[in-house]
Amino acid sequence: MSRDIYWHKSIDSTMRAAAELAGQGCPSGTVVGADEQTAGRGRHGHSWHSEAAAGLYITEILRLPVKPDELPIVTLMLGLAAAEAIFQTCGIQCDLRWPNDVLIGSRKCAGILVQLQDSAMLAGIGINVNQREFPEELRPIATSLRQASGREHSRQDLLDGLLTSIDQWSETLLTEGKEAILRLFAQSSSYVRGRQVVVDQDGSRLEGITDGLSSAGFLIVRENNGRRTTILTGGVRPA
Ligand code: BTN
Repeated sequence: MSRDIYWHKSIDSTMRAAAELAGQGCPSGTVVGADEQTAGRGRHGHSWHSEAAAGLYITEILRLPVKPDELPIVTLMLGLAAAEAIFQTCGIQCDLRWPNDVLIGSRKCAGILVQLQDSAMLAGIGINVNQREFPEELRPIATSLRQASGREHSRQDLLDGLLTSIDQWSETLLTEGKEAILRLFAQSSSYVRGRQVVVDQDGSRLEGITDGLSSAGFLIVRENNGRRTTILTGGVRPA
């Protein structure tokens, strides 16, 4: 498929530039990427460490015929696409932590941020590719493909693989439906079932064992008091 790719040497955030393009009506599949972000955005208002020429920082504008309430499913679908691209391009097997953290072991190597802009979805993906080290506060929780494998990886090859995977997983969602995404995410994630986790959401904290995904793509946790709670948002971490 042909697509427009707007590549920047340095930009504040590819999310901001992608929102502008989406607002101007750019076609589905348009990509904004950058070698460096000076104000990379993560989930829950966090920043995304975006060292120059070390990681892959892109936002793809998607105009998929899905309903706004299927956004959580699209988020899961993008995690699957990122993990597949990392495996196929770099040979590294990743785990997925609901809703959209891509992990190597217990550390995060990629994150996904999905936002709605009018009728478009902005799929922001950051992959730590060739970072040799991280700022001190990230060291316990972050890793890069280089740190995990001991060798450099081509960001261009990974970009090509990622865009192909997103095309294919979007097709899977459209042809096989959300059930396929839910099933395949559950198969690819050690967090969906039987994991003792702590969840911080809306200022409160709960602890329990993960117990599958709801039909809308939310995580279900069986709390220690027996109550089954659907996690709509929030950070999930091992207890
Ligand atoms: C997260 O795990 O918190 C989501 C991180 C998303 C980071 C990517 S990097 C490319 C795109 N531009 C941004 O500013 N954020 C996303």
